Amino acid sequence: MLNLSVLTESSFDSERLNKYASIMCCSNGYLGVRATHEEHYTQQTRGMYLAGLYHRAGRNENNELVNLPDILGVELYLDGENFSLVSGTILRWERELAFANGELRRCVIWRSSKGKRYRISSRRFVSMDKLSLIALQFSVTPLDGSAQMSLTTGIDATQTNSGRQHLDEVSVRVFDQQYIQGVYETQDRASEVVISASCQLDNESESWFTAKNRRLNCHHSFEAEEGQKVTFEKIVWITHRSDKTLSQASFARNNLRDLTVYAAKGYDALLEMTTCAWENIWQASRVTVHSEHTEDQLALDYAVWHLNTMMPAQDERCSIGAKGLTGEGYKGHVFWDTEIFLLPFYLFTSPQHARHLLRYRWLNLPGAREKARRNGWSGALFPWESASNGQEETPEFAAINIRTGVRQKVASALAEHHIAADIAWAVVAYWQATHDSAFMRNEGLSLLIETASFWIARATEINGRLEIHDVIGPDEYTEHVNNNAYTNYLAWHNVAHALQFLRHFERKDERFTQAAQHFLKRLWLPEPNKAGVIPQDDTFMSKPAIDLSRYKNTAGKQIILLDYSRSEVNEMQILKQADVVMLTYLLPEKFTRPQCLANLTYYEPLTIHDSSLSRSVHGIVAARCGEIASAYQFWREGAAIDLGNEPHSSDDGIHAAATGAIWSGVIQGFAGVTIVDGELHLSPRLPDPWQRLQFPIKWRTANLNIIVENQTLMVNTTEPITLTVWGKTLTIIDSQTFAVDDFSLPLCGTATTGGEA
Ligand code: BGC
Repeated sequence: MLNLSVLTESSFDSERLNKYASIMCCSNGYLGVRATHEEHYTQQTRGMYLAGLYHRAGRNENNELVNLPDILGVELYLDGENFSLVSGTILRWERELAFANGELRRCVIWRSSKGKRYRISSRRFVSMDKLSLIALQFSVTPLDGSAQMSLTTGIDATQTNSGRQHLDEVSVRVFDQQYIQGVYETQDRASEVVISASCQLDNESESWFTAKNRRLNCHHSFEAEEGQKVTFEKIVWITHRSDKTLSQASFARNNLRDLTVYAAKGYDALLEMTTCAWENIWQASRVTVHSEHTEDQLALDYAVWHLNTMMPAQDERCSIGAKGLTGEGYKGHVFWDTEIFLLPFYLFTSPQHARHLLRYRWLNLPGAREKARRNGWSGALFPWESASNGQEETPEFAAINIRTGVRQKVASALAEHHIAADIAWAVVAYWQATHDSAFMRNEGLSLLIETASFWIARATEINGRLEIHDVIGPDEYTEHVNNNAYTNYLAWHNVAHALQFLRHFERKDERFTQAAQHFLKRLWLPEPNKAGVIPQDDTFMSKPAIDLSRYKNTAGKQIILLDYSRSEVNEMQILKQADVVMLTYLLPEKFTRPQCLANLTYYEPLTIHDSSLSRSVHGIVAARCGEIASAYQFWREGAAIDLGNEPHSSDDGIHAAATGAIWSGVIQGFAGVTIVDGELHLSPRLPDPWQRLQFPIKWRTANLNIIVENQTLMVNTTEPITLTVWGKTLTIIDSQTFAVDDFSLPLCGTATTGGEA
């Protein structure tokens, strides 16, 4: 039995309503429900989302993840007084999310302003076993004499995305005095959503139903004795579709039929089913750490829990947005975050999910081809932000300057082209970890060749060499530069692998082969200087640097943009996030260890870490360079992005990529799991406060269990594998134990000569 952590919210804090609604959000990859309270608070953003359900609300808007009708809200009157924690007194408060099964629980003892005490408790979960299912229980116990109570709950379709309404109400119905159903359609008629709920109270009550102003409600009015617990159970079933093979009536009928089947089982039996599903998930992905700091295990369980709940395994047309299904930040759009920060987790724990995420890109190749074509290039240029159909979804403008009325253009869609090479990097990593020829021969090869064709067209011949001009690298504080090192190296890697796999699968394409060879020979790859530092781009090294300590202390808040305009920031050595360091992380075989360290040392003081994607990468590279104490510091700061004290950091959803980075920081950082030249390397070094680390990973057809403890490393494998442990390559048949000083400690950069690709 795994002893999983529980995430607690230690007090009711109206400042942190949205942070906790995000970090405790319950999801199963198909649907996500923010952890809002049953009673309403004006500051709290309610939210329920379905993976892949995007819609554009009107002119000048972008497609966004549709905020669905609310099913959590419960309006409770206790002896005539509305239950709300901003009135009366909270005498006891407990709220927790149990990672073992995803159950969110709250128990409050509340004294009303009339002086009577009540215990109000609730629990809920989103099923991992039946993806359409959400189950809720809500109980009230009067503690000072009997009480007269009324409870109203239902399906509230007044929900919007900050005022943008996406859904039309098509019909609302009540069946058998127990079930309610709402049918909704996106305003463009492309998608339908059916929500049915079973509402049952375990006490005699006067009950009735109403439907008004997009609210379908069931009401109960009842009395309870002192100490008598009255429980309301609500089981909800949600389905959506964008194909219309069935009539709408049949679609709605099927939804109700499924609801009645599962509602009849009751909350506890349904919880049991989801708990079993979770047991298997934890078995395949839990990372256990014995640390002096208990919050380290909590951070790992938090990350792995969210990583498992954000994966839309049911539908390959969906990928993972920057906030998963936990909020409306970035409108639910998919970024490079998915391939670079999330995919490694799936690659090593459930490779079929990594394949799924790459197939999402493959299915969206037409949009990527169109974007390249519209800009005058061949091949495929993936959108910087994408939703359900592969079109560019990046908003054209950022916030408006309300004094001048001028809107600032968002440059990412125009120049942050590295996403094409990032996707190609993920394809190569997927192949290396799985050797899935069926995928590689078809989807993988198309993705590599089409993105490679884009780079070949994108490069410009200057003074006898090929250069890539006018791009933005991962560091978004430096725009429109030439020969961004990250972009050039990744583009080279992209084209090199396209060519390699073309040959591997014996495909003939003379024109592409020639163009690719020319590109690989002539593309300019910024070279390390004498100190080993690679210039971020052509002009970066000639720009002035300023003291950034003030801004580094408030990393994540982008405070620098209050003091300097974007164009001023652009003219200084100021990084929002890891850029060259990121490059050494992704392509470790290209750089020597001293080069990795030299770049980390040079760029770290210049990096504010205003992006949540930044610190973790510095941490992994530091760990690979043997700088374990500083790696641990970065890792803990990365874990604090969602879990730290900052009250508003995650208001509009968790930082999905940061959860990937919590996992990666441990597995790729401290455990030193690295793919080098297509082979698996392992070189663990634990931070001082850790005594033991254990985790499972998959590599090709083998399942490995790795334990690092007391200066020993133990590898168990279900099949013989070849592995490089602390620089020494060997074959492990089933299980082997190594003493830490068996081998010398090399790593990070595994290249023996520097710089060349
Ligand atoms: C980062 C991007 C990232 C996006 C979504 C931005 O702040 O700079 O790298 O893709 O957030 O997480």
